[in-house]
Amino acid sequence: MSTAFQAKRILLGISGGIAAYKACELASRLIKAGAEVQVIMTGNATKFVAPLTLRTLTGRPVMLGMFDEVKQWKVDHIGAARWADACLLAPATANLMAKLAWGLADDLLSATCLACAKPLVIAPAMNSGMYDHPASRENRAKLAERGCLLVEPGEGMLACGDSGQGRLAEPELILLWLAYALREEKPLRGRRVLVTAGPTRESLDPVRFLTNHSSGRMGYSIAKQAWLLGGEVTLISGPVEPEALPVNRIETESGAEMADRTLAAAAGQDIIIMAAAVADYTPAVKSAVKIKKRAGGLTLELERTTDILAELGRRKKAAQTLVGFAAETEDLLANARRKLQEKNADLMAANDLTRPGAGFGGGTNQLTLLWADGRSRELALMDKDDCAYEVVAAAEEIWRERAAGL
Ligand code: CTP
Repeated sequence: MSTAFQAKRILLGISGGIAAYKACELASRLIKAGAEVQVIMTGNATKFVAPLTLRTLTGRPVMLGMFDEVKQWKVDHIGAARWADACLLAPATANLMAKLAWGLADDLLSATCLACAKPLVIAPAMNSGMYDHPASRENRAKLAERGCLLVEPGEGMLACGDSGQGRLAEPELILLWLAYALREEKPLRGRRVLVTAGPTRESLDPVRFLTNHSSGRMGYSIAKQAWLLGGEVTLISGPVEPEALPVNRIETESGAEMADRTLAAAAGQDIIIMAAAVADYTPAVKSAVKIKKRAGGLTLELERTTDILAELGRRKKAAQTLVGFAAETEDLLANARRKLQEKNADLMAANDLTRPGAGFGGGTNQLTLLWADGRSRELALMDKDDCAYEVVAAAEEIWRERAAGL
């Protein structure tokens, strides 16, 4: 994601709903990410947000009316449609979507969309009744069939006081879909990718559990990158604050639960990436009532959990590609290589937890990739999304070469 918008030209269409104010945030984030942004507003959108706000944020005059004279940047609707790498409509009202579905072009925004052959990302926002109306549903189906990417609105309290689906999706999710639209190469299209993320929680009693410091960020970044590369992604997540991602997410808590869900989903997967920090031990007895304190110490009896990756390694078939993470505080490469072999994995991402900027929590990581044939590659310290891209790209290459040899 970090370079997805660099030097990209984005046409941002804003139509008239209260969520129009959120388009300012989108414009600002795109500009900060290195994109050029040309805004087109409908007349109704200008009732909610001043064009001056968007002009200031983007550094370009906002395009408003079909027959207006644009002072600093001469462009008409055809020129804007040609100029753009992608078009983002946020918020898209029911009216705008109906016009697009039927090919109407009675204002600058709808005319530009009709002229635009570039990827179109639509983020609807409206009252839930309007969103759910059969007419709106038909329009969405029509637009989706035509290849438009629709970012589902969220659920919750709406500006009109109703509660339901219709709230403009979160900016992260909208930008993720835009990044997806801009990415031309999707080598994982048609491929199924299973990713695990986060820690596990091993209950001692109804109020206490054993866990670890994993934040889930690395695993979520991997799921995101696999999706951006076109994969059909299932994310099995331990208990973490979930990031909104357009993937099939399965929530789990204990290592046993993660093992059950992962092993049940594994058979049809092309690539499996075990980024979760699964507990190796769980309390032998889980007390049904709160353990009370007594004089003296307390000894916990722990028993081993299933090693999910090792079990996947035993069951591995055909081109299926298995990737593990080795989180270490000493003898990084020797331990990681031993795990690679013992668990029958194809790639191991060795993670030195003692290095500043690497490991649990935080936005960056530093990995060394180890292949089963003895090759290795030390990656620089980088953003977790970029690390995740390297891991997913390496896994895809292994899968592709192996599938070609079958
Ligand atoms: N793993 C797993 N199931 C477990 C433990 C680990 O699938 N019960 C996976 C992790 O998801 C990771 C890899 O195995 O991909 C290595 O995990 P790590 O915690 O580094 O090593 P362990 O095998 O648990 O060995 P140790 O704790 O002794 O370092």
